[in-house]
Amino acid sequence: MFEYKAAPDLLANRVILVTGAGRGIGATAAQTYAAHGAQVILLGRTRSHLEAVAQRIRQAGHLTPMVYPLDLETAKTADYERLEVAIEQRFDCLDGLLHNASILGPRATLDETPDQEFVQVMQVNVNATFMLTRAMLPLLHRSKEASVIFTSSSVGRKGRAQWGAYAVSKFATEGLMQTLADECAGSSLIRANSLNPGGTRTDMRAQAYPDEDPQRNPTPEDIMPIYLYLMGPDSAGINGRAFDAR
Ligand SMILES: NC(=O)c1ccc[n+]([C@@H]2O[C@H](COP(=O)([O-])OP(=O)(O)OC[C@H]3O[C@@H](n4cnc5c(N)ncnc54)[C@H](OP(=O)(O)O)[C@@H]3O)[C@@H](O)[C@H]2O)c1
Repeated sequence: MFEYKAAPDLLANRVILVTGAGRGIGATAAQTYAAHGAQVILLGRTRSHLEAVAQRIRQAGHLTPMVYPLDLETAKTADYERLEVAIEQRFDCLDGLLHNASILGPRATLDETPDQEFVQVMQVNVNATFMLTRAMLPLLHRSKEASVIFTSSSVGRKGRAQWGAYAVSKFATEGLMQTLADECAGSSLIRANSLNPGGTRTDMRAQAYPDEDPQRNPTPEDIMPIYLYLMGPDSAGINGRAFDAR
């Protein structure tokens, strides 16, 4: 496991947007960021999931999150621009962006993968990530020190049978990260890195490995040290790298 001890106020005065914040790793990351002082913006498909996370954050005494339901499968450029305006009006800038939301798609060979499901995975995991990043860049440029984390996977670094659409989408995610990192290198205060959480006890993992004992895998809480490290100032200047949570 990645060894890192975050200061309690590591993310004080930082505004951080987390996608897929209603469940799984994204929900835990949002709660962890809020617990370290961040003002979090919770984005996800299902309002009730986001509201439940927001309530937990409020009950713990942290800053009240902004809840922003958005379906990344259907969202268009104008929707991302509306989000940019909403964040600008409330917070003026954005200090962190955790691209976490993804779908698994079919666990099938390429010849068994229907067009529509391949396209759906690419829409949520890649196209939406690109459109959201582009819309947020003006706000990230206003930050004194901004971090963008792209969530990858081991199959986004080496292809594997029956992981086609998802694996291809995670390779593309690494490509988005590297391209943004190179564009920001030197002249910008924005850094971009990718993070492979590794097998983690969530609904997605259970969907991918229905016969596995979930207790075998670490919980989202277990892998939070690297989520904190990459989002906070201790990783300032680290740009364009691919990390593993363990
Ligand atoms: N868990 C693992 O073992 C593992 C391993 C490697 C990589 N990862 C990566 O880690 C990230 C988090 O995975 P997880 O296991 O926490 O997944 P999860 O439990 O399935 O949660 C996925 C989250 O993404 C959101 N989401 C899905 N489709 C969306 C859409 N169209 N629009 C908006 N939000 C959408 C979901 O929102 P709703 O709550 O509204 O459904 C949910 O909050 C993903 O990028 C995944 O690829 C996970």
